[in-house]
Amino acid sequence: MISYAFHRHLRGFIKPASYFLILLLTYYLGYLSAVPKNPPSDTPLHHYSATTTANPLPLPTQPQSSDHYQFQTRCTDPIPPELTRQTILHRIFNGTSPYLGFPQPHIKPLLRQKRIKGWGSNGAVFKNLIHKVRPTTIIEIGTFLGASAIHMAELTRELGLNTQILCIDDFRGWPSLPNQFRDIKMVNGNSMLMYQFMQNVIEVNATESITFLPFSTGSTLERLCEWGVFADLIEVDAGHDFHSAWSDINRAYKLLRPGGVIFGHDYFTVADNRGVRRAVNMFARVNGLRVKPDGQHWVLGSF
Ligand SMILES: C[S@@+](CC[C@H](N)C(=O)[O-])C[C@H]1O[C@@H](n2cnc3c(N)ncnc32)[C@H](O)[C@@H]1O
Ligand SMILES: *[C@@H]1O[C@H](CO)[C@@H](O)[C@H](O)[C@H]1NC(C)=O
Ligand SMILES: *[C@@H]1O[C@H](CO)[C@@H](O)[C@H](O)[C@H]1NC(C)=O
Repeated sequence: MISYAFHRHLRGFIKPASYFLILLLTYYLGYLSAVPKNPPSDTPLHHYSATTTANPLPLPTQPQSSDHYQFQTRCTDPIPPELTRQTILHRIFNGTSPYLGFPQPHIKPLLRQKRIKGWGSNGAVFKNLIHKVRPTTIIEIGTFLGASAIHMAELTRELGLNTQILCIDDFRGWPSLPNQFRDIKMVNGNSMLMYQFMQNVIEVNATESITFLPFSTGSTLERLCEWGVFADLIEVDAGHDFHSAWSDINRAYKLLRPGGVIFGHDYFTVADNRGVRRAVNMFARVNGLRVKPDGQHWVLGSF
């Protein structure tokens, strides 16, 4: 209102051309002051309460708007790993195991006793990293029918570790899933994917070590950061387009305990112009990390 009145007052004695120039100049100055000079980024690997710092690395192909580098930066101090399971049960499932009373009688006939299908879910990378890190908490981002989660549960069990595996998946799959997996039933438009995953976990006796968070990756990772739920090993295998992968990796990295490792699937896939690979490489560049391929997977670290 004030600026409108001011301009109207000016118009009485300034020629239209100079009026236009003043407007342009004001706009340009405003634009300059709105563009931040250094993109903020997190310091790597021991950073759960780190604040943002200027990036010391040269960024050869730095995008014009640095806003895309900004994600929530502060997480709550980490809770002890032995409280991970009860924290999730309390925060999400009102304190009771979601496996209790499963499957309800009307669901049972819709499920197969065991139906597992994965992609590179038994790759050597899982064994390599679990033997190296000996994790107490694993976060898996993208679970589907549980192939990789169950494989990790078996590996940690073999090592005698008491590992909690948190699986984040909205269990919606993707729009062509019902056509591709006709044996996964649908009831009133609701895919039984989550129930079949649960059935698989029950079938391998892993309900004590595998817990799931059936929501979108973005909102769930933000919440884990707020709750102080951290992990020693994080696997990223949800959306494979650049923007999904970029967002998942940035949010997940904040949840790594010191010495932890983040890795993920499909470093070599050509989907979305190699979306996963672009996201991983860009994240490594911005944070001064290196990418080590392992089979079809990528592993990030400061090796
Ligand atoms: C490739 S599958 C995971 C496969 C699994 N890691 C394995 O090895 O068997 C990808 C999964 O990510 C989930 N997903 C994709 N985008 C998601 C999002 N934004 N939020 C939650 N889940 C998502 C899908 O529902 C799907 O089950
Ligand atoms: C949550 O659990 C309490 C008891 O532990 C129960 O009284 C309450 O009804 C439950 N809420 C829901 C939504 O199930
Ligand atoms: C799970 O436990 C049941 C009963 O204790 C046992 O019969 C079955 O072999 C176990 N399955 C696996 C995959 O360990």
